[in-house]
Order: sequence, then structure tokens, then C-alpha cells
Amino acid sequence: MKRVSVASLALAAALAAALIPAAAVAADPAGQAVDAARKRWQESPHGPMLERILPPTFEPAQLPEPASRGARLTIEYCVQCHNLPNPAMHHAAKWPGIVERMVVRMRGKGNLGELMKEMMAGVKAPSDEERAVLLAYLQRHSQRPLDPRRYPEIRTDATKSFRLACQQCHTLPDPQRHTASEWESVVARMERNMLWMNRVVGSRPDPREPQLRIDEILDFLQRYAKKG
Ligand code: HEC
Ligand code: HEC
Repeated sequence: MKRVSVASLALAAALAAALIPAAAVAADPAGQAVDAARKRWQESPHGPMLERILPPTFEPAQLPEPASRGARLTIEYCVQCHNLPNPAMHHAAKWPGIVERMVVRMRGKGNLGELMKEMMAGVKAPSDEERAVLLAYLQRHSQRPLDPRRYPEIRTDATKSFRLACQQCHTLPDPQRHTASEWESVVARMERNMLWMNRVVGSRPDPREPQLRIDEILDFLQRYAKKG
């Protein structure tokens, strides 16, 4: 039993690696700083685990307000143990708890017991003032959650796939966030994220498992999408 699941995890990893090409060497200073940090945590004994925490799909150049202090602090502190987080991944109410959890780690506590101790030697933690700037930045550019009162359909069977698949890692997004054609590429990226982060993908139909019905998910998001 155990062998089978390890093998399928390895297969998922190989598939994801094929789907998400390794980031090219960055030319800009921010990209170089991220590359240097990545090399450090990737080469630690926990590299394979850390690599899977967040997908490598989000580049420093994609950060909103890239010249702001918030963006610079995100690059300084948030790539020390895993790939760069996207502020739009979570809604505003979710970020304080996450930032708290991460700052505790940066201060050298709560790192999966002693597990990450060696790797933690070079990690720095933000001051209280920097942490407030970071949090405000993440919240300013956060995900807008779907309001169930605006979308009564969210309680019906038609959106079951969407509910099952799309809140495994973050809140359900508001369909108005993107145009219909944008949703197509966002949902395709989320499929790769699922493979990368080893969540339910349903790539091999199995009637006992919840199925990822991309057609159903896209149908809902596109019907309520932002007008293009
Ligand atoms: C000292 C190492 C370390 C640093 C630095 C760090 N993280 Fe993390 N992060 C982790 C670990 C370990 C996990 C996986 C366990 C967990 O989710 O708590 C994680 C998981 C995450 C996740 C995915 C889990 C979720 O709840 O969505 C996000 C998002 C995240 N970190 C954001 C951040 C942000 C933002 C910063 C900078 C303020 C940051 N991290 C800095 C170690 C770190
Ligand atoms: C395996 C975890 C995971 C699942 C499941 C997941 N997402 Fe995400 N989502 C992420 C991560 C990581 C980010 C930030 C990185 C990125 O944007 O690729 C994100 C960011 C987002 C964003 C904000 C970024 C943007 O481009 O607007 C939206 C919207 C989103 N996801 C929609 C969805 C939808 C729709 C589904 C269901 C098909 C879904 N997600 C399922 C991990 C996941």
C-alpha cells in the first residue's frame, strides 16, 4: 500500500516538474535575490518538502506595486523557506494568522520541531514595523472572497466541483475577479498548482473520489465573469 502511494506521489511530482519549467536565471536584482534564497532552501535537507509548499508560478516582477516597500519586504522575507507567495492567494482576513505563523518561524520557533534547525541559521525576521507594512501590503492586494448572497447558485449541485476543488488551498474567489478568457488560463494554472502541491486532481477518473470537473467550474466562473 505504502509503496503505491509513494510511487504515485513521485509520478505527480515528475508530471508537475514537466509542466512547470524551472525558472530561468533572473536578470533583475529582485529576481537574483530570490534565486539566491531558493538555492539555499532547496539545498537544505528539507528542500523537497519546502519546494512543494508553494508553486514556482509567481515571479517577483508580478508582485503588485513592485517598487513599494511592501513588495520589497515580501521579496526580502517571504522567499527564505519556499517559493514567492502571491498576495492574491488569500483573502484579507486570512493573512494576519498566516503572517503570525511565518514570523514565529522566522524567529526560530515552531519549525516543525527541530526539523528545520540547521536551515534556520541564516534566516532573518522582520521588525514589528516591517511586519505591519508586510501585512498591510498582503491585505491590500488580497483575494476578494465570493459572497454567497450574491451567488445563490453556490449552494446548488451545479457548483459542487467548484466548491470541492477550489477551496482546498484558499477561499473561493469572486467570479468578477477575471474575464471569461482570463478564467480559462487561471483555472489551467490552478490545475498545475494542484499537481505541484499534491492535492486532489482527479486526473485519472475514479468513481470513489471527488472528480475535478473543469468544464463545470469554468461554466460557473465564466457565466459570472467580469465583462471583457
Ligand atoms: C522560516 C521559514 C519560512 C519563512 C521565512 C516564511 N514561511 Fe511561509 N511557510 C513556511 C512553512 C514551513 C510552511 C508550510 C506549513 C504551514 O503552512 O504553516 C509555509 C507555508 C506558507 C504558505 C502556504 C500555507 C497557507 O496557509 O496558504 C503561505 C501562503 C506562506 N507560507 C506565506 C508566507 C509569507 C507571506 C511569508 C513572509 C511574510 C512567509 N511565508 C515566510 C515557512 C516559512
Ligand atoms: C493546490 C492549491 C490550490 C488549489 C486547489 C486552487 N488554488 Fe488557486 N491559488 C493557489 C496558489 C498557490 C495561488 C497563488 C499563486 C498563483 O497565483 O498561481 C492561487 C491563487 C489564486 C487566485 C488569485 C490569483 C489570480 O490570478 O487571480 C485565484 C483567482 C485562484 N487561485 C482561483 C482558483 C480556482 C478557481 C481554483 C479551482 C479550480 C483554485 N484556485 C484552486 C493554490 C490553489
